[in-house]
Amino acid sequence: MKISPWQVYKRLLSYLKPYLGFFSLSIVGYILYAFTQTGFAILMEKIVSEMDEPSGNAYIILPVAIISITFARGLGSFVGAYCLDRVAFNVVYELRKQIFSSILQLPRQQYLQQDSGHFLAILIYNVEQVTSACTSVVRTLVREGATVLGLVAYLFYLNWQLALLFFASSPFIAITISIASKRFRKLAKNMQSSIGDITHAASESLQGNEVVKTFGGYESELARFNRASDDFRRQSLKMTVTSALNSPVVQMLVSIALALLIFVALYPGFMEQMPGSEFVAFLITAGLIAKPLRALTEINGPLQRGITAANSLFEVIDAESEIDKGEVIVERAKGELSFNNVSFSYTDTQVLKDIDFSMRAGQTIALVGRSGSGKSTLANLIPRFFEYSSGSINLDGVALNDYKLSNLREQIAIVNQQVVLFSGTIKSNIAYGSLSEKTDSEVLAALETANATEFVDKLPQGMHTPLGEKGLMLSGGQRQRLAIARAILKDAPVLILDEATSALDNHSERYIQQALERVMKDRTTLVIAHRLSTIQNADTILVMDNGAIVERGTHQQLLDKQGLYAQLHQQGFDNETVPTDG
Ligand SMILES: Nc1ncnc2c1ncn2[C@@H]1O[C@H](COP(=O)(O)OP(=O)(O)O)[C@@H](O)[C@H]1O
Ligand SMILES: [Mg+2]
Repeated sequence: MKISPWQVYKRLLSYLKPYLGFFSLSIVGYILYAFTQTGFAILMEKIVSEMDEPSGNAYIILPVAIISITFARGLGSFVGAYCLDRVAFNVVYELRKQIFSSILQLPRQQYLQQDSGHFLAILIYNVEQVTSACTSVVRTLVREGATVLGLVAYLFYLNWQLALLFFASSPFIAITISIASKRFRKLAKNMQSSIGDITHAASESLQGNEVVKTFGGYESELARFNRASDDFRRQSLKMTVTSALNSPVVQMLVSIALALLIFVALYPGFMEQMPGSEFVAFLITAGLIAKPLRALTEINGPLQRGITAANSLFEVIDAESEIDKGEVIVERAKGELSFNNVSFSYTDTQVLKDIDFSMRAGQTIALVGRSGSGKSTLANLIPRFFEYSSGSINLDGVALNDYKLSNLREQIAIVNQQVVLFSGTIKSNIAYGSLSEKTDSEVLAALETANATEFVDKLPQGMHTPLGEKGLMLSGGQRQRLAIARAILKDAPVLILDEATSALDNHSERYIQQALERVMKDRTTLVIAHRLSTIQNADTILVMDNGAIVERGTHQQLLDKQGLYAQLHQQGFDNETVPTDG
């Protein structure tokens, strides 16, 4: 749907509502600032006319006036800037909160489709762009607009015929400025893309340095880089020419207009005699208009940029969250899980076909199959990371969709290959989110069960050691044990282990295997396994191929069948293991 710029602007304005007080105050401040410009022009006229014929105590009043006007100008500019920025920072804060909350609630698929840079750019860069564009537009519109209005009014007050004459020249100035602005925008865009080319060429050559060296890419890489650099050089120079020509041309036009004024005013008998002081004031005022006028003609650029940025920002805020229409809430599910003819596709191709099986509470089912056969996809449907298209999945006889999403997820603990650790201590990573109330001894017990105390105890502060961003590098196997501890601590009725021990070496795995078996006993466990020991102990084994369950049974039954399972068994199952580093 195409949204008009005006709609975007209106929506942006709606964010001002809570801050109307400060916003109005900032406008008052800028108007005060603007009128001091006219004040200066009037003051000039008074000073010149005082010099012609001194009167009374002007030598006191006028100096005091100049200080007062300067004070008012400073006050106005301070109040205007402070209040406007105060509003802008609040709006930034508000927008960021909304965007981040919206991003967190996006369906899983969205994270996979968009790269995270996209969201970060919106969160950091676009928000700033929008507010800084809007603040500068408001500031210019109010401050420079009021300045121009005041000065123009004063010009007409001084001499309306001359004022009309002066404004006859303004279209030429406006045209010059708009041509220049257009060129600025074009050049700015070109420069941005040249910079992009430069970094692109450089980073590719640097990353692919081995290939460049061994395949003799030196000449061609150098040529590519030099082309981009040369392009940037030429665009930059054009930019300088434009900006260096812009103000002399505008000044020339203004001076032609002023010359015309002087000619008309001084031409004998052409006009009624105008007092010298007023004429000087007129010239000064006319000269003062050029700058604010130019500022006013330049707000279109930032305004357009801001609206473009706001548009993509509102898109994120409006993005659909995960569907959460269910109302069933249970304290603790028993853990009976059944898939009834479930089919699923990410895009067009079907990834799961007619999946049909059920698990009694406390049972363990192992999923085996080649890489890409759909095992992880099947597991990910249980916490509703993705919505299945047909069939149904029930937990304790209730469709997953009928549970409140957060309640459903409370019933499930997952360990998969991608272990996610946040900055914080080991303890805060284990007792994460809804587990944050757990005590040290509970965390310690979980760490022990996961066979993690072996390395955690060696750390300087034990489980209170901060992991930091790169502060403490844990090996893949160590990270995986922390993830297992996290799942153990959660103590949920449904446990999903998606290659949960793939990063462990044989020795550690055997250790953890026993622990996991203890944990698996009291709960329904779906284990995607790659090692025989785990698979053998399962109540039932489901063999997947191409998104369908092709064989099912116990280890022995499946071996006797001489089918895919027997084949996988012969290959040793672990065709999907990642390198072990314990
Ligand atoms: N987020 C996704 N979007 C689109 N296709 C996906 C996505 N995740 C996995 N697939 C595809 O679905 C199929 C099954 O993948 P997956 O369930 O990860 O297999 P397994 O865990 O058995 O290795 C693969 O063909 C894979 O390319
Ligand atoms: Mg997988």
